[in-house]
Amino acid sequence: MVPKIIIFVVFYVFLALQLCPSIAQTNWIRVGYYRYSSEYGFPISKINSAFFTHIVCAYTVVNSTSYQLSLSPPDEESLSTFAKTMKKNNPSVAILLCVGGSGVSYSTFSSMVSNSSYRKSFINSSIKVARLYGLQGIDFYWNYPETNSDGFNMGILLQEWRAAIDSEPRNSNNSQLILTAQVKYSPSVSSISYPTEKMQQHLDWVHVVAEGYTTPLMTDLTSAHATLYDPSTFVNTDYGIREWIDRGLSANKLVLNLPFYGYSWTLKNPVNNGVGAPATGPAISTDGFLTYKQIKYYIKQYAPDVRVRYNSTYVVNYWTEGTTWIGFDDVEAITAKVSYAKEKKLLGYFVWEVSFDDNWVLSRTAGKL
Ligand SMILES: *[C@@H]1O[C@H](CO)[C@@H](O)[C@H](O)[C@H]1NC(C)=O
Ligand SMILES: *[C@@H]1O[C@H](CO)[C@@H](O)[C@H](O)[C@H]1NC(C)=O
Ligand SMILES: *[C@@H]1O[C@H](CO)[C@@H](O)[C@H](O)[C@H]1NC(C)=O
Ligand SMILES: *[C@@H]1O[C@H](CO)[C@@H](O)[C@H](O)[C@H]1NC(C)=O
Ligand SMILES: *[C@@H]1O[C@H](CO)[C@@H](O)[C@H](O)[C@H]1NC(C)=O
Repeated sequence: MVPKIIIFVVFYVFLALQLCPSIAQTNWIRVGYYRYSSEYGFPISKINSAFFTHIVCAYTVVNSTSYQLSLSPPDEESLSTFAKTMKKNNPSVAILLCVGGSGVSYSTFSSMVSNSSYRKSFINSSIKVARLYGLQGIDFYWNYPETNSDGFNMGILLQEWRAAIDSEPRNSNNSQLILTAQVKYSPSVSSISYPTEKMQQHLDWVHVVAEGYTTPLMTDLTSAHATLYDPSTFVNTDYGIREWIDRGLSANKLVLNLPFYGYSWTLKNPVNNGVGAPATGPAISTDGFLTYKQIKYYIKQYAPDVRVRYNSTYVVNYWTEGTTWIGFDDVEAITAKVSYAKEKKLLGYFVWEVSFDDNWVLSRTAGKL
């Protein structure tokens, strides 16, 4: 006969497993950012949420005097049906709201985090809005804390935010809200001050922005704007990820950026057309920016037989014809980056932006790995 004590132990272990917070069960996430009040004109109903475990709606701004989230009537309209629409294709997808971005000035967040009553108002409003629209979490994007006191105060914000989320009264069907942040590719860029220890303690994970390092308006050498490696500079994703881990964020809190876009340059000399070739500025669009979908369309229109090349030193695809040079992440680069995230035991990846994909080719590629 099995002693009673063993039955009890087994029962309590079983119970403990059941009660484990969802964060402990998550070991690989696939996040898609969607710019819901967007100039891109991609309807919500066309997002295929089946490729993602989480969708983040970007961005929501903050009122600079009340520090509450401020939704325009069109934002409210989008959000009112968003969660329901996403769950049609994928009932288990979780929806997060990204608060911040370029629509919230540095000084608004700097002042919000510095004052306890402002923080309270901000936190309270973020939880209220998330619940009102049936969302599962909040993503904080301050671009970015500049001073030591900003960093210190942001740490206090995260601590209070976590406490508010822990103690929020909820009905039995709501699970605890997820709290994440979007941060720069590396914590050790000058004039940046992130509260890494509090981030580790209070955030479920962070979205590490690893794109836009170089653009045709910044440099006249063709380049990989989201280079995974670069032997000649610290401005590369692998360096940033290692810095985050050195500073104390665990690998399984880091979520790697996959950019679904690229940049086009005009070459100085069509014969010299590798990565790092001399260029005279952007091609095709005014700043050279092109979504993956636009790049594929352009290639199909102008030279479908010219093959897309891949450079594994940087982890970038590029396509060139005449004086036009386009650098972007195609299937090979996306595959290498997702493999990197898995090798480094990161928590997963996030896509900027879901509507840039071309027939879900990249989302499918990333999701299969
Ligand atoms: C911001 O909040 C203040 C105080 O609640 C309010 O008077 C003002 O109209 C709000 N501003 C905007 C742009 O919503
Ligand atoms: C925070 O803001 C409130 C309202 O403006 C003000 O009364 C209070 O003195 C501020 N607290 C600090 C510590 O600055
Ligand atoms: C926000 O503040 C109001 C008023 O103090 C309170 O009734 C409400 O429960 C708070 N909501 C959250 C989510 O903390
Ligand atoms: C919880 O969900 C179930 C099934 O979806 C529903 O029947 C029930 O009314 C919900 N309860 C609350 C408090 O919302
Ligand atoms: C990638 O491009 C650089 C610069 O053009 C070149 O030196 C390197 O050999 C290329 N790497 C591969 C694997 O082709």
